[in-house]
Amino acid sequence: MLELLGDWKRTDYCGSLGVEDLEREVILMGWVQSKRDHGGLIFVDLRDREGIIQVVYNPQLNIEAHQKAGLLKDEWIVAVKGTVTRRPQETINPNIKTGEIEITVKEIRILNTSKVLPFPIENEIKVDELLRLKYRFLDLRRPMMKENLILRHEIASATRNYLNSKGFIELETPYLTRSTPEGARDFLVPSRLNPGEFYALPQSPQLLKQTLMISGFDRYYQIVRCFRDEDLRADRQPEFTQIDLEMSFVSENDVMEIVEGMLKAIFKQSKEIDIPTPFSRIRYDEAMLKYGNDKPDTRFGLELYDITEIFMNSGFKVFGDAIKRGGIVKALNLKGKASDFSRKELDDLVEFAKSLGAKGLAWIKVTGDEWQSPITKFLTETEKKGLQNTLKTEDEDVIFFTADSAHTVNLVLSTLRLRLGERFNLIDQSKLSFLWVVDFPLLDFDETEKRYVAMHHPFTSPKEEDLGVFDSSPERVRARAYDIVLNGVEIGGGSIRIHRSDIQQKLFDKIGLEPEEAKKKFGFLLEALEFGAPPHGGIALGLDRLVMLIADADSIRDVIAFPKTQKGVCPLTEAPSPVDTKQLLELKIRVDVKEK
Ligand code: AMO
Ligand code: AMP
Repeated sequence: MLELLGDWKRTDYCGSLGVEDLEREVILMGWVQSKRDHGGLIFVDLRDREGIIQVVYNPQLNIEAHQKAGLLKDEWIVAVKGTVTRRPQETINPNIKTGEIEITVKEIRILNTSKVLPFPIENEIKVDELLRLKYRFLDLRRPMMKENLILRHEIASATRNYLNSKGFIELETPYLTRSTPEGARDFLVPSRLNPGEFYALPQSPQLLKQTLMISGFDRYYQIVRCFRDEDLRADRQPEFTQIDLEMSFVSENDVMEIVEGMLKAIFKQSKEIDIPTPFSRIRYDEAMLKYGNDKPDTRFGLELYDITEIFMNSGFKVFGDAIKRGGIVKALNLKGKASDFSRKELDDLVEFAKSLGAKGLAWIKVTGDEWQSPITKFLTETEKKGLQNTLKTEDEDVIFFTADSAHTVNLVLSTLRLRLGERFNLIDQSKLSFLWVVDFPLLDFDETEKRYVAMHHPFTSPKEEDLGVFDSSPERVRARAYDIVLNGVEIGGGSIRIHRSDIQQKLFDKIGLEPEEAKKKFGFLLEALEFGAPPHGGIALGLDRLVMLIADADSIRDVIAFPKTQKGVCPLTEAPSPVDTKQLLELKIRVDVKEK
């Protein structure tokens, strides 16, 4: 039954034909999406990368082709020769480009068959993601997945076009390299030629792109794979792709302007959307105050208020004691929703807050002049007045409070803010809310290790005007760093770097990195810094996250051809997997794990 392609050459893609092609004789090749046998006529929807076209087999025109069509099953591969004809008026499908036409078949060649599918090739399927990943070759045939990957290509292509036009040079850096300073765990690769030694896969090209600036390339970019062995989530993969760039002789604004122009070009080329630039900016401390995190979703309000002042000497122990321990009290006011809350839903939110580490979640429902709440009986008149003034309480408001360490308060209320935003449809889904977060602190005090750590990476430059307090109050020194956020997702981050070895040394001292240790880890960069390093800075954008947002996908796994599961496994290739003893012997590695 199977035939060869022979001398047939495809003339067109199925999905690209339209009324402009009427009467043409064409040869199409693709997959059988579906077949409808109407006794006389047989209709087959034929699919290729560009879309679907209806193919008609008429026994009166060609009995042999009609017989062959009778055999076809879903996902068989065929080549057909026929004429583009107009569909009868009543069968026009206005939803697809080929909806007004069909192919009247003269000849068909069956090129391959297919086993019965584990799930249908269509957007709406209800199957476990594991099955989709195991049969990824079928999953990627589904229109949505195919469109996501083609969109990804468009975005990468727009990126290259834009950066090329701005004088950037695309350069590659090695994957077999040394540990890089992004703070995650490394993936290691054993070296056969150097037994007992390992390469680290790069967490980013950070050190080498800085080295390229010292080499004088001036503007570099790379669409590059990065590897980080960290716990996975919907927007995290162990290997992911960055749009990585670096520029010499620049300040923050130059880098931000390039990124804004690049995103403008990306949205234009991939989606025909004009995004307004420049993007808004928010200081880190303001973001933490108003939204409780450094990647706020600014598509909606529902801001947080710091009300610690009001409860400074409060008799209400829950708040007063938290403040005495060095904590804070913050609240958010959900306007006009008091009647929407049942007691059960409020209790659920309290449990939700506790699951995030809160000791409790106090609330007040305002109805007229009445405050319904488990805590009002503990509050003084002055405290109530203070709340009224700060939170501008009105009839039907619901107020939520958390008192704890700043870290817990911000975590709980920022997560609650998003949950309420979704629950009450406060988020305008059609909005694209870009935001630069700037003025990050340079250092973060690590409570467990009792020492300062670099908030970004240790090559981030401090602000010159803050150098005066570097020794006396290091926590007040701000970094020349910037993050870019889209709809509450951090899509990129970068900084102006330290280009002088004296300042680099100062920073290493502050984070307790011994000179020997620094030399061992980044010796080559430190040395390079002493050979005429230009001022430089750059940024990296997470390509997967950006595509996810533009495609409106739920997970970055839906915009990566062959992603890993939450457990870091690829169900298609079954990586990772045990290896032969021979391979281990060659690497001089002994594995101390029982077989699964
Ligand atoms: P950073 O670590 O902030 O910066 O990474 C830049 C961007 O990469 C994306 N990203 C990820 N995407 C998917 N899965 C992951 N596991 C993952 N981790 C990060 C995020 C993030 O904003 N070298 C610096 C950049 C620089 O300073 O120029 C760096 O890697 O969108
Ligand atoms: P309790 O005195 O523990 O019964 O708490 C009284 C009210 O305050 C309850 O509604 C608790 O949910 C709430 N609550 C307890 N601890 C906190 C906290 N740390 N922050 C905010 N509210 C809290």
